Amino acid sequence: MQVNEIREKYLAFFKARGHVIVSSASLVPEGDATTLFTGNGMQPMVPYLLGASHPSGTRIADVQKSFRAEDIAEVGDNRHTTFFEMLGNWSFGDYWKKEQLTWCFEFLTKELGFPKERLWVTCFEGDTEKGIPKDTESAEIWKELGIPEDHIRFYEAKNWWSRAGAPSEMPEGEPGGPDSEVFYEFTQVAHDAKFGDECHPNCDCGRFLEICNSVFMQYVKIAGGGFQPLPKQNVDFGGGLERIAAASENNPDIFVTDVFIEPIRLLEHMSGKHYVDSRYARSFRIIADHARAVTFILADGVRPSNTERGYVLRRLIRRAALHALKLDFVDKDKEDSALVRCATIYLEKYRQAYPELAGEEMYATVTNGLWEEERNFAKTLTRGMREFEKIAADGHISGEQAFLLTTTYGFPFEMMAELAHERAIEVDEVDFQKLMKEHQGTSRAGAEKKFKGGLADSSEQTTRLHTAHHLLLKSLQMVLGPHVKQRGSNITQERLRIDFSHGEKMTKEQIAEVERIVNEKIAEALPVVCTEMAREEAEQLGAEHEFGAKYTERVSVYSVGQPDNVFSIEFCGGPHVANTGGLGTFKILKEEAVAAGIRRIKATLA
Ligand code: ALA
Repeated sequence: MQVNEIREKYLAFFKARGHVIVSSASLVPEGDATTLFTGNGMQPMVPYLLGASHPSGTRIADVQKSFRAEDIAEVGDNRHTTFFEMLGNWSFGDYWKKEQLTWCFEFLTKELGFPKERLWVTCFEGDTEKGIPKDTESAEIWKELGIPEDHIRFYEAKNWWSRAGAPSEMPEGEPGGPDSEVFYEFTQVAHDAKFGDECHPNCDCGRFLEICNSVFMQYVKIAGGGFQPLPKQNVDFGGGLERIAAASENNPDIFVTDVFIEPIRLLEHMSGKHYVDSRYARSFRIIADHARAVTFILADGVRPSNTERGYVLRRLIRRAALHALKLDFVDKDKEDSALVRCATIYLEKYRQAYPELAGEEMYATVTNGLWEEERNFAKTLTRGMREFEKIAADGHISGEQAFLLTTTYGFPFEMMAELAHERAIEVDEVDFQKLMKEHQGTSRAGAEKKFKGGLADSSEQTTRLHTAHHLLLKSLQMVLGPHVKQRGSNITQERLRIDFSHGEKMTKEQIAEVERIVNEKIAEALPVVCTEMAREEAEQLGAEHEFGAKYTERVSVYSVGQPDNVFSIEFCGGPHVANTGGLGTFKILKEEAVAAGIRRIKATLA
């Protein structure tokens, strides 16, 4: 079955059961700073799972564009992709397990015609420590529906779902719950003993493919690490569209489903290589996957750059271009681009389901974006190749030479290693990795230092906020504890932002207390003094520095307070006000989670 057909059937099925169909949210998350990209259907729905009412009611169905950067390295086997479509149906305090599992079963067996003997399901084993019981209710429902008892398995960690991962990883206030996954069994795939003696649904040998998951969102994490029931019981169903399509064809390779096969055929035609040739399958899959992901990412407004989302996009384009090179057609005709050609196919394929992809303007945006990035990369490669040839003439590449080639010439290590391998030249990878690690440490420190020194600008207001930033860090340590360390900062004329290590949401009282201390220090009109000293001396004085940053031998240190009664002291390049007296009134605008164990505060001075 084709993906377009499955998507339509799914939405129609849930529409007939009282669901309102809503469009996919952007891949760039709005109001959710926990990840760079929307990685599942739940992210845009968090407020409604926590109890806010959804404008379209309590039964919603959608197909969400999803991208998981963490899976980039996995792409190349027969079932992992970075971008995928997630079928979703949602009950916000409406139906519960019985309806959900029955509909899920009906959709798979009746609408799509899956033989029930091929389906296996997993349920939550329970967590006695957290007081969350075993989900025997779901297991009973599956049994009644006709799933054989030996196809029903219980797991603990694998059958808990939250945006943040395992119960212990979830920040306070985060919703989560037990889930029940459905797996399709490819009986033609023999179990590989490499993955364990016994095969089972969560075995990684490839016999089982997880196709969908019903999450019973019924808990919220509370202070102290426990859980309490949410005001309403919700259902979050997620179905992997491409995987369901593969199962509908009873073929474990999702890259031969209709979505990917067209670009792959084109790539075969352009390169003269064959997808079935095991030497090239991985490259075909990487290009087909990455080309699709970058099409959707570019369409959602991201552009290649060296930071955050733009960097992920750049990496995907360059990695795909590298594999295109491996299939050896880029050299043949420099005017043609495998990526642009694949993107064109995807734009056509998806424009009905995702109207944002339609139109000439979008076509130009996506294809020009790809061309430009590929051209830049080609220049880098040509320069790097020249350098590589010089070095390789010696018959050996040292760690330092490899390091220079990647850092100065931007030549990808992956490519160097492969070229060296072809010519039976050795590369000192251990030494290379060591140098890379050291380098990453220094450039990070450099970036942070530059930011600290320059901030967004050096206007009067930014400078005042910068001093308030120092007062805030110290106050957070006083109120929350000495474990609080700065993990990032960003200051503009409008507001300051600090990321810091702390495992829990701050209470209203704690926020008020931090504000009180900062305002007290402002009222005390404390002097702000800059001193240059040896790094060691600054460390002995207990000056704050950012986690993981590296500093030069001599550093500048800013202290706030009287010489005999210093309130705050930090490694810092300034600039700062001379006295806290004129800062105004400090106010915290927002306190939120950015990642597991990292909180973010935005604050301002009025
Ligand atoms: N949100 C659930 C998942 O991604 C359905 O598995």
